[in-house]
Amino acid sequence: MKILLLGKNGQVGWELQRSLAPLGEVVALDFDSPGPLAADFSRPESLAATVRAVAPQLIVNAAAHTAVDKAESEPDLARTVNASAVGVIAREAAAIGAWLVHYSTDYVFDGSGSTPWIEDSPTGPLSVYGKTKLEGEDAIRASGAKHLIFRTSWVYGARGGNFAKTMLRLAKERDKLTVIDDQIGAPTGADLLADITALALRAALQEPVLSGTYHAVASGETSWYHYARHVIEFARRHGQPIRVAPQGIEPVPTSAFPTPAKRPSNSRMNTSKLQQAFGLTLPHWHTGVERMLTEVLI
Ligand SMILES: NC(=O)c1ccc[n+]([C@@H]2O[C@H](COP(=O)([O-])OP(=O)(O)OC[C@H]3O[C@@H](n4cnc5c(N)ncnc54)[C@H](OP(=O)(O)O)[C@@H]3O)[C@@H](O)[C@H]2O)c1
Repeated sequence: MKILLLGKNGQVGWELQRSLAPLGEVVALDFDSPGPLAADFSRPESLAATVRAVAPQLIVNAAAHTAVDKAESEPDLARTVNASAVGVIAREAAAIGAWLVHYSTDYVFDGSGSTPWIEDSPTGPLSVYGKTKLEGEDAIRASGAKHLIFRTSWVYGARGGNFAKTMLRLAKERDKLTVIDDQIGAPTGADLLADITALALRAALQEPVLSGTYHAVASGETSWYHYARHVIEFARRHGQPIRVAPQGIEPVPTSAFPTPAKRPSNSRMNTSKLQQAFGLTLPHWHTGVERMLTEVLI
């Protein structure tokens, strides 16, 4: 099987290079990939030529405009990358009968209430990022392409920067930390998402009826504040020179950190559909975060 992987150097794209490899020949591109194949999502039509040239049976799109606050001031670029380009890929996938895998976000919801969102819950994005990601989803569903859309949240990878690494750095430098305590979600590893993708594809390729939208996050839930505490206490237990005392970490409301983009308070996602459809068990978020911390600390 020939697989076209777009956005290969993002957090999820990097892990997909590993997890997709056993499924077939992977042609992995990023927007500045050298050579004749273009994968710049700011030029959607160039993607059509790339899909036609590669002629894959499967397209996996991990590229996105993920700078949530920046998207508020560059909505046209965010829309081009997150929606128009995705629409072009979906149209091309439908034309050649290829599967399309795509990632979306808890930010398609308005964050109200405290019940975990299911796939059919009404959407209501609060930000340009959330709106354009939803438009990308809609374009795929309208295209007629066989697809798997995985909505996920709070993604981290061991490679590059992430929230946990930032908290660790600050905990070593400062006596006090303030962390948002009124947004609830589940930190989800890019490695877990890449593994879910490969496992779900094994089933979906045999059973096209599995085409659809799925919530894919680690189990359990937390706030950024409790996430930070967990990370810092783990590091302390493992002999890291942590300066901040446990009582020096202060929970604050979202309003303490004004940002251009509004974030949902309730990012809880119900993953029953994914677990039942593909026979998967989603590990608790502690498992992946502690593994990532072990990789970066020890
Ligand atoms: N990160 C999260 O917390 C989160 C939460 C929910 C859902 N998701 C979704 O999960 C998917 C993967 O996210 P991620 O965390 O892996 O994001 P990421 O690390 O930011 O990766 C996105 C990739 O897209 C690339 N990209 C940006 N603009 C592009 C363009 N014009 N053309 C081609 N590529 C472009 C980025 O390149 P540069 O880095 O060079 O800009 C980056 O390699 C995305 O669909 C995202 O919306 C992420």
